[in-house]
Amino acid sequence: MPKFTIHDFLKKKPERKKITMLTAYDYPFAQIVDEAGIDVILVGDSLGMVVQGHENTLPVTMDEMIYHTKMVTRAVKNAMVIGDMPFMSYQAGIEEAVKNSVRFLKEVGASAIKLEGGAEVAEHIRAMTRADIPVMAHIGLTPQSIHRMGGYKVQGKTKESAKRLLEEAHIVEDAGAFSILLEAIPAGLAKIITEELSIPTIGIGAGPHCDGQVLVLHDVIGLFERFTPKFVKQYANLKADALKAISSYKEEVEKGTFPGEEHSFK
Ligand code: KIV
Repeated sequence: MPKFTIHDFLKKKPERKKITMLTAYDYPFAQIVDEAGIDVILVGDSLGMVVQGHENTLPVTMDEMIYHTKMVTRAVKNAMVIGDMPFMSYQAGIEEAVKNSVRFLKEVGASAIKLEGGAEVAEHIRAMTRADIPVMAHIGLTPQSIHRMGGYKVQGKTKESAKRLLEEAHIVEDAGAFSILLEAIPAGLAKIITEELSIPTIGIGAGPHCDGQVLVLHDVIGLFERFTPKFVKQYANLKADALKAISSYKEEVEKGTFPGEEHSFK
């Protein structure tokens, strides 16, 4: 059981304390994120891009999400773990959606799930919540809809689309979502949604007014270089560090300076 529970998560909004959330996809990085004291680890389907090397998140399967979430829950001592529903694990029908979502709780010990969409997934959220599966909704830029959206574009920029997103936020809250992730929407709109909703909002590219913040771990530590969205802040460059370490190892092996006496048995 994680020490940071959904109750702690929900308490932070009225206490005006920010919720910290980051993705992780495997044991060593989940251990580091947990040790850093991050409240929530999202095993995001972004793993399709940053770990598996796909063009987008669409190829990720339910079994792959379970495989990665298992590594994360094994590592975590404090953080709450949320499993992300991959493309076509819930879109085809409510019964299948509930069956897939429960796998995160039953098989690998996650505390909640996240799914993309607004009104079109309201009944899914209702059914999952009825089955005691806590759901984080996700609106704005929803990467699984990349083909409909025509790319990774900021959403809610026009008056009508902003109004629609605000309506969607209310719909998923009414359906029972315990939280809502807002991706790539104007900061002013995220502020209104955050003020109008009683559930916590988590922003990514949604400005400073949300109740919490999430980023993709590999963006934060410099392990994904294909593209960097405007909303990302890179806090370290692990690729450069790893490259330096591995090049030194190669050089020392080639020169015969490693292994030395101190690495050898007598
Ligand atoms: O898959 C993911 O990592 C996400 C991001 C919004 C954090 O959904």
